[in-house]
Amino acid sequence: MDKPIVAVTRKIPEAGLKLLADKFEIRLSKQDRVLKQEELKKLVKGAAGILALLTDKIDDSVLDAAGKQLKIVANYAVGFDNIDLAAAKKRKIAVTNTPGVLTEAVAEHTVALLMAAARRIVESDKFTRAGRYEGWEPELLLGYELQGKTLGIMGLGRIGSRVAEIAAKGFGMKVIYYDNGNRNKDMDTAIGSEAVSVRKVLTAADVISIHVPLLPSTKHLIGKREFESMKKTAILINTSRGPVIDEKALAYALSKKIIAGAGIDVFEFEPQITRELLKLDNIVMTPHTASATIEARNAMAELAAKNIINVLEGRSPLTPVK
Ligand code: DGY
Repeated sequence: MDKPIVAVTRKIPEAGLKLLADKFEIRLSKQDRVLKQEELKKLVKGAAGILALLTDKIDDSVLDAAGKQLKIVANYAVGFDNIDLAAAKKRKIAVTNTPGVLTEAVAEHTVALLMAAARRIVESDKFTRAGRYEGWEPELLLGYELQGKTLGIMGLGRIGSRVAEIAAKGFGMKVIYYDNGNRNKDMDTAIGSEAVSVRKVLTAADVISIHVPLLPSTKHLIGKREFESMKKTAILINTSRGPVIDEKALAYALSKKIIAGAGIDVFEFEPQITRELLKLDNIVMTPHTASATIEARNAMAELAAKNIINVLEGRSPLTPVK
């Protein structure tokens, strides 16, 4: 009997591909780039499972193109805003993501962006390379210390909680957070954090770090009004999804020094980036690489593969998207 086909939309680490290859026929995209919708539809035709990336738009038309034998879409990401969940549910197709295994990578990257922005690391590097360092100066490239400052977390899932823990234990920061009105009592006891209103996060935090999923309700959660209520010395970090921040408003806030700085890994129209941002020194940017560690990417590949194996062998997925 023919093996079921698993369509893999772009090469992922070998660890995951090997698990799949032992059991299924893998149809791996030959393109080392994001597929156009028509290419994606062609690739998934006849597949029982799709291993998708966050850059693949898995909508009604892609699910239709796959056909009735499709049982699972396993996203190689913790975020799943690229998948039309209602369309999958209607067809009884399981959707899975990769929570947990990238928490540390993303949390550490968040802290890296925070330190880079607070201590102007990229700007200092450029300055040094440009041969502009002519000797020690009392007020050269001054930044901000983190100890004793307030970190405001928007969205206290796994990643937000880990960032809170690193900031409190590592830097002695005070942590406040907003998570849909929820409180994390264990964390509050462990690190002295406090659940507060959105407004309080915006007005009281020295550093604001965004960890919410992209939903209709979180699109442009941070816009002109929100920037205006932040401290002039505030630093904004985003490693969640780009459209959560109104990028034009971010560029304006940074250029007019309405806030002091930003560390941004995700963009509203990625891979396009609002041009004004590219000209500013008070923003540190990375190309959506917060989970890009060998450890996390291998574990994501294995988890996505195991989800596919479970579903195609008639068991429950390990990490279904609810
Ligand atoms: C995810 O998994 O959703 C992250 O954005 C990957 O970096």
